[in-house]
Amino acid sequence: MRIERRVVIITGASRGIGAALARELRQAGARLVLAARNEEALRQVAAADDGVVAGDITDTSTRARILAEALRRFGRVDLLVNNAGVGHYRNSIEAESEEIRALWELNFFAPLELARLVVPQMLRQPRLPGADEAGMVVNVSSVAGKVTLPWFSMYSASKFALCSWTEGLRMEYWAKGIRTLAVCPGYVRTEFQANVLSGAPPAPLAASKERFAITPEACARAVCRGIRRNRRTVVTPASSWALVAAARLFPGIVQHQLARINNTA
Ligand SMILES: NC(=O)c1ccc[n+]([C@@H]2O[C@H](COP(=O)([O-])OP(=O)(O)OC[C@H]3O[C@@H](n4cnc5c(N)ncnc54)[C@H](OP(=O)(O)O)[C@@H]3O)[C@@H](O)[C@H]2O)c1
Repeated sequence: MRIERRVVIITGASRGIGAALARELRQAGARLVLAARNEEALRQVAAADDGVVAGDITDTSTRARILAEALRRFGRVDLLVNNAGVGHYRNSIEAESEEIRALWELNFFAPLELARLVVPQMLRQPRLPGADEAGMVVNVSSVAGKVTLPWFSMYSASKFALCSWTEGLRMEYWAKGIRTLAVCPGYVRTEFQANVLSGAPPAPLAASKERFAITPEACARAVCRGIRRNRRTVVTPASSWALVAAARLFPGIVQHQLARINNTA
């Protein structure tokens, strides 16, 4: 899908991957509506022409305001980037139920409900001249949405669900012109680790993750390439495909190694 002149909603745009995506998409000629809770941080990321919506996207009213702002400012929406998400380093049996539900509200239900608002709008509006598609939904999942990570078991489950639904939506609406892209980053150098709902990564992982981390800018460039090429999935860095493939081919070996890193083998 072309990015130039497209109207793009980005959630979680106040920092990290979302802020880098805002800069990359703006540079490629997109018109932006940025959403997150921290209005001051959002305004620092936003350019003068961008729409800004401050609020919690797990609230129905915030999601309605995001679509309303896109329509008020630009009269349409072409791309929805569901990027806001949160981590959770807790054992699935011992973690509080409320925390697990809060994780799912943000990582799965908010993206789903936003798409349920935005996709009908994409189908209603006239296509831009020369556009092959009616719109695109980009869901930022994780490598943890392709390989279950034991220190992240509930987070993994929410990101697997997001990947699965991304594929489902693609197949449900292909003929109507809606495209979808699942983005699966490995480690990205952001404040994600500092903002998890609770818990901390196992020590061996905390020590090694910097070696494999990419910048949010590199992640944003990979997402834009994926959008332009109508990709189904972007795994970034591409070397993370090796882990995804190993987990499919040799699940027993990979799960044993991951449990060892988690100190639960
Ligand atoms: N960093 C990584 O290593 C990594 C790896 C794989 C996947 N990911 C995924 O990439 C996405 C972005 O993560 P990041 O690394 O950029 O993390 P981050 O730096 O913590 O940014 C998260 C963004 O989401 C927003 N947000 C959080 N809760 C929200 C809520 N309830 N309503 C609205 N906005 C909310 C935050 O803004 P406010 O606090 O202002 O609301 C912020 O803009 C997430 O889905 C994450 O799961 C990250």
